[in-house]
Amino acid sequence: MCGIVGYNGKNKAVDILLNGLSKLEYRGYDSAGIAIVDKDIEIIKSKGKIADLKEKIGDKKLEGTIGIGHTRWATHGEPSEANAHPHTSNDGSVTLVHNGIIENYQELILKLKRHDYTLYSETDTEVVANLIDYYYKKYKMGPIDAINRTMVRVRGSYALAVIFKDYPDEIWVARKDSPLIIGKGTDGMYLASDVPAILEYTRNVYYIDNLEAACLKKDDVIFYDLNGDEIEKELKTIEWDIASSEKEGYEHFMIKEIHEQPDVLKKAISAYVKDNTIDFTESLLTSDVLKGIDSVYIVACGSSYHVGICIQYIIEDLAKIPTRVEVASEFRYKKPILSKNELVIIISQSGETADSLAALREAKELGSKTLAIVNVVGSSIAREADYVLYTYAGPEIAVATTKAFSTQLLVLYLFSIELAKTKKQINEETYIELLNELKEVPDKIKYILDNEVKRIQKITSEFSHVHDAFYIGRGLDYAISLEGSLKLKEVSYIHSEAYAAGELKHGTISLIEDNTLVVGVISQKEIYEKTISNLVEVKSRGGYILTVSPESIPVDNVSNYKITIPETNKYFYPSLIVIPLQLISYYISVSKGLDVDKPRNLAKSVTVE
Ligand code: AGP
Repeated sequence: MCGIVGYNGKNKAVDILLNGLSKLEYRGYDSAGIAIVDKDIEIIKSKGKIADLKEKIGDKKLEGTIGIGHTRWATHGEPSEANAHPHTSNDGSVTLVHNGIIENYQELILKLKRHDYTLYSETDTEVVANLIDYYYKKYKMGPIDAINRTMVRVRGSYALAVIFKDYPDEIWVARKDSPLIIGKGTDGMYLASDVPAILEYTRNVYYIDNLEAACLKKDDVIFYDLNGDEIEKELKTIEWDIASSEKEGYEHFMIKEIHEQPDVLKKAISAYVKDNTIDFTESLLTSDVLKGIDSVYIVACGSSYHVGICIQYIIEDLAKIPTRVEVASEFRYKKPILSKNELVIIISQSGETADSLAALREAKELGSKTLAIVNVVGSSIAREADYVLYTYAGPEIAVATTKAFSTQLLVLYLFSIELAKTKKQINEETYIELLNELKEVPDKIKYILDNEVKRIQKITSEFSHVHDAFYIGRGLDYAISLEGSLKLKEVSYIHSEAYAAGELKHGTISLIEDNTLVVGVISQKEIYEKTISNLVEVKSRGGYILTVSPESIPVDNVSNYKITIPETNKYFYPSLIVIPLQLISYYISVSKGLDVDKPRNLAKSVTVE
């Protein structure tokens, strides 16, 4: 949940590190630091955001062309200068930055204390710096031996960048479960937790696997396995363009990414639909594979889990395949009962979420085939799943997901349609009809963005004071309400809950009082009257009703404020409804003057349990 960067090359490292860290700030932003190798190793760290670190560095002359940096999301030890990274071993011979969590650090502290090491911070990371130093001094077999012995001894997740005082021209890295890429540039070698940090300097990257290490020299890198033997790695090219990791004139990444949805959805459609036929062959998800699926188990976290809830309705209704959905943190420890031909689908924007990665491994352990729906190319979940369908949303910087959510929905719509056809639950005519409807969704989203934004901005300014909000709907409307409610909580800090509309009168309706904000989501023709009567019940107890619905659903009698979306096929309404729900959250957050892109206590990729 932190971000790490490193550079070893011809240019001054400080600017490259600070620039990279500012691009990784969505991963954690409560403290930061850098270490620059010049005549000695100079460490500067500060509490707060990268801007605070830049201020602290001021016009300090840091000429070194080798350095590592870190932006933190505190797990062990409060955000403070002492707990900020880089951390050093007692005598400064080892300096490092770390993303991840060392689970057995308490035990290691006892070991180190037995060898007269002392600790100045509350972090698990400082323990690793001293442990590497301990092995380095004990066995005198050089950096790779000390790092490998440490990897064998520690339990947990880590991406480490290490500088040994004795090897001032090198940066050493090692990883297990936390993301780490190595960039090869024309003026040096780079390392980072994620692509946006180095995209400005190179598109050529290496991915190292779990329990592997590497040594970054000025113009090259050597990879090692856990035995200390050199191994080869393939250099890959990143497709994303730099612009996609910039704000391009928008005030926040979130609103920029909301407006990018029509384009990225068109991109995802053209990646998988050729001549009105869905083509997953590139991912080896052939019709034979689909034919063999008897049930589906969707596992994910947060917003990705909400995509799963939406898709459950569609797979069951369209393909008639029993589908379960579970949050990954429960799935991984509950010893799930998986049937023989059950496909486990892991949905993840980052492809690095710890619980989702563990759930994937658990499903594979239990013998199930696994399909990953992932946005970040080359991420752990993508590389470890049996099949992967990328979502082509491009880099998503804002912590609150929007465009990646929409592309996950779209790719799984395509999966559901192809599964239904393969299972002969729909005929060719319905197949084409659904694809034609789906192809119109991006333009319908554009219509909402072109026509509703101003109105939504106006109405939401009236809600920045509310303390509680409720989102209600039935079926797919309830499923997408879950996402609307999470978006509001994430970026506006307003307590919010989404409810199956029929469930309200079994208790929660007691919370409704004058001016309680209730967002009614109503798109499903078969059941809309039921939802409307639930809204009438709420309104009669003082609730302020904001509805999101297509023109064909009559809401005038119950709605205090209605947001109208274009008509579409019943299965695709979540893609249209989520747009106003994203905008409501965004504009309430803006009207409260909050840091929309980096909400408090959150991080874009949750790489620890
Ligand atoms: C959504 O806005 C949040 N960032 C969070 O709930 C997120 O969906 C969750 O952490 C899962 O992340 P993933 O899709 O990268 O696995």
